[in-house]
Amino acid sequence: MFTASGKQKFMIKNSLIFNFIKDKHVASVAPTSKKNVLKICKRIDFNKDIVIVEYGPGNGVFTKYLLSKISANSKLIVIERNKGLALELLKNKDQRLKVFNDSAQNINQILEKENIEKVDYVISGIPLSFLNYQEREELVKNTYRALKNKGIFIVYQFTKKSKKLIVKYFNNIYSHIRPLNMPPLFVFEAVKISENEY
Ligand SMILES: C[S@@+](CC[C@H](N)C(=O)[O-])C[C@H]1O[C@@H](n2cnc3c(N)ncnc32)[C@H](O)[C@@H]1O
Repeated sequence: MFTASGKQKFMIKNSLIFNFIKDKHVASVAPTSKKNVLKICKRIDFNKDIVIVEYGPGNGVFTKYLLSKISANSKLIVIERNKGLALELLKNKDQRLKVFNDSAQNINQILEKENIEKVDYVISGIPLSFLNYQEREELVKNTYRALKNKGIFIVYQFTKKSKKLIVKYFNNIYSHIRPLNMPPLFVFEAVKISENEY
């Protein structure tokens, strides 16, 4: 019979699959592959000092990549609603990283706490189709408010259901698909090109 050692039990408890079984909002048993992380982040200009917000970091596959790329004066704010996953991310003591165990819908209050007016990029891996329509709309609208003019909302999803809602707020949207991901990943890059606020 297989009995897990202390270290193995710790690794299992912090894996996406363990949290997936306990929390339907985790929505994925495996982290996004490194190759897809690179492709999904290709629009980000790492040569400038920037502020990025990440929704649903899970076990931090994007977080680690973004921290390896951003400048010393840039900031990364991650918002993860699953407590176990957020606690794990809090172990990263990088001064540029701020971890919030909260819902992405609360982005505006979180930025206010951090004294940040607007951000350059929001990257989202949360399963939008798991939210009801009102929550989804609140999330997209609040993200629009949080972005600077020309800021980009990057969304990766297993379905393209939420595209219509993103188009309602962001008039400039480019979409592509990562067909080799299982299941295929839809990626939307929505640019805020208007000063109109909702
Ligand atoms: C599909 S996993 C993606 C994990 C990781 N970003 C990756 O690419 O492997 C979705 C993550 O979003 C989190 N999540 C779901 N709804 C959320 C919400 N409303 N606000 C913040 N995080 C949320 C889940 O707990 C989970 O960690």
